[in-house]
Amino acid sequence: MSNTEITICGIGPGNADYICPAVLKQVANADILIGGSRHLHIFDQYNKATDVFTGNMENLKHSIAANSNKHIVVLVSGDAGFYSLRSFIKSEFANTLINIIPGISSYQYMYAKLGMGYERAFLASMHGKEVDYIGMINTHESVFLLTDKKNTPKAIAQNLVDNELDNVTMHIGNNLSYPNEKIISCTAQQVTEIEHHFDLCSVIIEKK
Ligand SMILES: C[S@@+](CC[C@H](N)C(=O)[O-])C[C@H]1O[C@@H](n2cnc3c(N)ncnc32)[C@H](O)[C@@H]1O
Repeated sequence: MSNTEITICGIGPGNADYICPAVLKQVANADILIGGSRHLHIFDQYNKATDVFTGNMENLKHSIAANSNKHIVVLVSGDAGFYSLRSFIKSEFANTLINIIPGISSYQYMYAKLGMGYERAFLASMHGKEVDYIGMINTHESVFLLTDKKNTPKAIAQNLVDNELDNVTMHIGNNLSYPNEKIISCTAQQVTEIEHHFDLCSVIIEKK
């Protein structure tokens, strides 16, 4: 084992109020921070060396490898254990000490905002993959989906309509926790008709 230490920190949905103190301690002790620019920006006052993660996994690998014998803190959105860079880093750096600090996931934040629970929910990510969420609507109280550029709320709504689920309720959480947060609740049919560009967002579907 090298002396490299990697700590993967879940930093919550984006607003600094939702970052747990354990993450702040790790950031204070870090030699370098790696993360998306919106995540790095939150920690500007720590004056740490940074490397911006743009989504390119090869670059991430090089960036970590180039900082051997250092304490590297990787900042990920939401919870580190829910669809983050965790599995990639663990498989690429199997012989390196890796700590994980969880965070508040976008699903936890959004369910809380709506006063809902997720004990009987189906939670999934549509990032670059297909998920049979239509089938899950019948067997779960609600379905939570992380969206991406292809699987947008409108694409999901159109798929629901195509499957005769026009009247299910869709909650769309846009820019959760940020000052421009917007949560829209309406039927799938209505979502297909909305003139609104959804960027960073998550979706909850309820059959009621
Ligand atoms: C790579 S996944 C990371 C999920 C994260 N680990 C979590 O626990 O929420 C990125 C997706 O999370 C969701 N997401 C993250 N931050 C969000 C926010 N502030 N508002 C809405 N959705 C968010 C979006 O669906 C985005 O495409």
